[in-house]
Amino acid sequence: MSIEIEPLGAAAGARIHGVDLSQPLDEADFARVRRALLDHLVIFFPDQHLSPDEHKAFGLRFGTLNIHPHVKPLDGHPEVLNIVKEPDDRLNFGGGWHSDMSFLDKPVLGSILYAREIPRTGGDTMWANMCLAYDALSTGMKQMLAGLTAIHTAEDIYGAQGIYNNDDRRSMRTQAAEQASGRAEHPVVRTHPETGRKLLFVNEAFTTKFKGMTRAESRPLLDFLCQHATSAPFVYRHRWTENEVAFWDNRCTQHFALNDYAGQRRVMHRVTVNGDRPY
Ligand code: SIN
Repeated sequence: MSIEIEPLGAAAGARIHGVDLSQPLDEADFARVRRALLDHLVIFFPDQHLSPDEHKAFGLRFGTLNIHPHVKPLDGHPEVLNIVKEPDDRLNFGGGWHSDMSFLDKPVLGSILYAREIPRTGGDTMWANMCLAYDALSTGMKQMLAGLTAIHTAEDIYGAQGIYNNDDRRSMRTQAAEQASGRAEHPVVRTHPETGRKLLFVNEAFTTKFKGMTRAESRPLLDFLCQHATSAPFVYRHRWTENEVAFWDNRCTQHFALNDYAGQRRVMHRVTVNGDRPY
């Protein structure tokens, strides 16, 4: 089988043909997949048939695997998130713009999401390209952001008062609380460690303020940046097919799982690759 890369969106996205992820990739194919991830930010592998162990083995080619500090994993597989929305659930996992676990000192490199069961209609995921979002800012704004540090925390999402602990209409089990109040400091403008590109690194789920400012003082600029970063020209929206795998570069994208399929079931498995400290 030879690998073919089909670009999907102007902002991000490519479909990779000719890869069976249940088998170990040889070095040449691994290098092509890695290059495609850097070039397209989110890559899709249609029609894959993976056990949780094979899913993890693919992730391990890119680094160590993350064990989510707040979400109960798939039984027997601490490194696999079982992302489930039942027909009568109200809340979905990932239903707001975010970069996975930016509240960690070393946020994750990327996530590998496997579509096990998708709704007949709806349930798409959107990704936004943070390099394009940064490039589009004015010189004055870029200069102002260059010295800014942002505070990221899981508190508003996974804390005792967070959204996942205040809605019973959800199947996913999260562990609340005190541990969710930890915070990380990251530069607002980050440099991608492999491509060297500058990019915006704030998101509405986990970024709460700028260092040295109050939440209220930070809000207007943070709101502007989050809205700008996820505006239409920087976004690719994907309609899933069953058994498809997506791999996104979490360092330079944000994503949003749409919650528009009430009455239907959606099941995804996610393996997440650990990353580096942003600079
Ligand atoms: C996530 O945020 O990892 C979930 C994305 C999705 O279910 O589409």
